[in-house]
Amino acid sequence: SSASVREILSGRVAAGTAVTVQGWIKTRRDSKAGLSFLAVSDGSCQDNIQVVAPNTLDNYDTEVLKLTSGCAVRCSGKLVASQGKGQGMEIEGAKVEVVGWVDDPETYPIQPKPHTMEFLREVAHLRPRTNTFGAVARIRHTIAQAIHRYFHEREFFWVNTPIVTASDCEGAGQMFRVSTLDMLNLPRTDKGGIDWSKDFFGKEAYLTVSGQLAVEGYCLALSKVYTFGPTFRAENSNTTRHLAEFWMIEPEIAFADLNDDANLAEDFLKYIFNAVLNERGDDMKFIADRVEKSAITRLEKFISAPFERIDYTQAIDILKKAPKKFDYPVEWGNDLQTEHERYLAEEHIGRPVVVMNYPEQIKSFYMRLNDDEKTVAAMDVLAPGIGEIIGGSQREERLDYLDRRIQQFGLNPDSYQWYRDFRRYGTVPHAGFGLGFERLVVYVCGLTNIRDAIPYPRTPGHAEF
Ligand code: 4AD
Ligand code: MG
Repeated sequence: SSASVREILSGRVAAGTAVTVQGWIKTRRDSKAGLSFLAVSDGSCQDNIQVVAPNTLDNYDTEVLKLTSGCAVRCSGKLVASQGKGQGMEIEGAKVEVVGWVDDPETYPIQPKPHTMEFLREVAHLRPRTNTFGAVARIRHTIAQAIHRYFHEREFFWVNTPIVTASDCEGAGQMFRVSTLDMLNLPRTDKGGIDWSKDFFGKEAYLTVSGQLAVEGYCLALSKVYTFGPTFRAENSNTTRHLAEFWMIEPEIAFADLNDDANLAEDFLKYIFNAVLNERGDDMKFIADRVEKSAITRLEKFISAPFERIDYTQAIDILKKAPKKFDYPVEWGNDLQTEHERYLAEEHIGRPVVVMNYPEQIKSFYMRLNDDEKTVAAMDVLAPGIGEIIGGSQREERLDYLDRRIQQFGLNPDSYQWYRDFRRYGTVPHAGFGLGFERLVVYVCGLTNIRDAIPYPRTPGHAEF
């Protein structure tokens, strides 16, 4: 019967059983004794299975000896304990069927040798065949599953908020406009210059930067909800931490304040890291051996230490007293830059920090104004090694305050009537946060560039594949 390499190597198939594996050749080695050793991967786990093909096979000379890295094969034989050390099991190849050849093996981009991450980004469609990107893909999957499980077990409901929207959640003007090419079947409302997106939706429409505003409506009915979906930002920052298309997880809780929000963020992150260590131990070990030495120990440290919580104002004090020279000035009222965030989390405190209560003018319009009227109930979770990983806040639940902030930020109140309704009908204190999924993957996998944390990265100048 057909089995995955993971099933076989984890001991779920008994020795002596006849098995079939299907996968791709990593390497082929031929012995003088007339045996070829094929390392076959099916991506189910980090390890390959060794298939031993004898020269008595009908297609030994015509096919087996021509197999190169990347060829697809179906191998059937008896599962036996391996003679060599290392691998526990191997397949005595009774049959090796070639399912797909590699055209031109010399120029096949994924050779069995180390490649740079830069090179692999240029062949993002083939990079999942490498050990590193296989591991990242499996870890990314495990994190996503753990996220859904975490919320499901705590009676949060997953809400699918729209990708096309008219509201700019962050009010930062970083939205991609949606338009359409084929308008033949649509009524044209504009006789002059045709505004395609207006023609379709009746107003300007954009790709969402966050599902938060929409999910607040579900929070104020179902109490505990979250989103998990793609978000888009036209920020022209070509950095190792920003993508134009990324996935975000946004829980939102009713009858909750900023402390509840910070508690949720801490409990949630620790749960996810625990799940990855428990469920992807083999891939995490590979990451620790080959990508980032401290990958496992820093997650363990993260799980065992309580997060530090400080006010923005305290953070500014710490930064002002720092023995270090920063590129960006440290001044109460300025937003924290990555260098400041990393100094706080890595050098000063040495563990994750929640910075709370930021100046109201540098944060979004929907955040709740504190009694001092100078700060809002916002928080950022800063992690050593990456900086901001989570941004969240208690929302302004008072209509008059919200209206003032909409005005102060120069937003069009007409676009937010529906959002104002939440404050008109049964308003309650509520809070939530956004976690950038790829920032989390970068952190867990010890990557240095966010372009390696998503299968097909979109950044300024890049939308290939
Ligand atoms: O801090 P942000 O902008 O917060 C929001 O969008 C809120 N509406 C979230 C909420 O309260 N529901 O973004 C949240 C997180 C950041 O902390 C970061 O991890 C990630 O999203 N993020 C990005 N990740 C990759 N590329 C980008 N361009 C990102 N921008 C934000
Ligand atoms: Mg933020």
